[in-house]
Amino acid sequence: MLNKLQQQPADALLALIKLFDADPRPDKIDLGVGVYRTATGATPVFACIKAAEQKLVDEQPTKAYLGPEGDMGFVHALIPHIFGGTDPSQGGRIDGMQTPGGTGAVRIAVAMAKKAGVTKVLMGTPSWPNHAQIMADTGVELVGFNHAAADGSADLPALRDALRAAGPNTAVLLHGCCHNPTGIDYTPAQWDEIVDLLAETGVLAIVDLAYQGLGLGMDEDAYGTRAVVARLPEALIAYSCDKNFGLYRDRVGAFYALTSDAAQTQAALSNGHALARANWSMPPDHGASAVRLALTDAALTQNWVDELASMRARIRQVREKLAASSNAGGVNLVPLGGQQGMFAMLPLNAAQIASLRADHAIYMAGSGRINIAGLTMGKIDKFVSALAAVSA
Ligand SMILES: Cc1ncc(COP(=O)(O)O)c(C=O)c1O
Repeated sequence: MLNKLQQQPADALLALIKLFDADPRPDKIDLGVGVYRTATGATPVFACIKAAEQKLVDEQPTKAYLGPEGDMGFVHALIPHIFGGTDPSQGGRIDGMQTPGGTGAVRIAVAMAKKAGVTKVLMGTPSWPNHAQIMADTGVELVGFNHAAADGSADLPALRDALRAAGPNTAVLLHGCCHNPTGIDYTPAQWDEIVDLLAETGVLAIVDLAYQGLGLGMDEDAYGTRAVVARLPEALIAYSCDKNFGLYRDRVGAFYALTSDAAQTQAALSNGHALARANWSMPPDHGASAVRLALTDAALTQNWVDELASMRARIRQVREKLAASSNAGGVNLVPLGGQQGMFAMLPLNAAQIASLRADHAIYMAGSGRINIAGLTMGKIDKFVSALAAVSA
């Protein structure tokens, strides 16, 4: 029976990591994998997480099972940071559950939307490739619209048209900030218009907030999410702590539902618990416990806010230096200065990307996505000259 199973293609980015590791050239540059790197190329454990982990080792009384909702102390500790304001849970209309990473949260959001009657999900493309895989696996139709306009800003007319043509039983998946892969975020004015359109069309918002704090700031990066929950009756929010707490492999995320009232939110979440039970039963505890400890200790929270600010500043510094480079041949780097987060798409073809790898030891995704944090200030000149060489 099992011989009916066909070999599936390897994940392209994971394959790229292997190629990069095997490359002996000392000046090689990895712009592929989507993790933050410091100015020396490291992806260290946050100091606040190290301290929280030490506390866990010293003080955790048990590792007995939690429920499918995971660590609710963690889920609730995040709420003020995500939703802000004087009543961040909107009088109990917002509540959540812990998930294995942002991926688990997106999975619960799409599956819950489907259980509630959603049959198709609108999404700007390109997007994080796993969004499409989750929709296909969950059995909802993905209806794509163009995300990036030619000038490097968001293609609002395409989003407007998609929402107006949507019809009933439709959701839209929106990146909360630091769009992956384009770096093109909606401005506050655009978010306001999008929320108006959602109110008018009744399309359900699924907001994927995977990089809060890595764009313009914790509050700025949550502008869209907060506008959605302040002005719409319902929404689903998928959140990742894997980037903004550097917890990647520990798989830390949360899913939040906003409904018309607190009782309905608990009913919605009971569906999330059932979905979790049938998938992973309950989420891994360690990373979420560390985040809870960090967010319930004022000094550790401040430490986190500061570390995130320095990461953000480094990403911005690299973006600005790239945007100021006028010698990248046929590649216009100027739009990167006005975009946010770790990622940007470069208009390179397959032959140019292959040449960057073969001739210049520069590794990037086949789509032309680069991880800005993979560049150190010292490597930017080499990168820009290589772009000029392949695009001349
Ligand atoms: C847009 C977006 N959403 C969600 C995720 C999921 O993150 P994780 O499952 O690692 O927390 C990612 C990861 O790259 C992402 O880019």
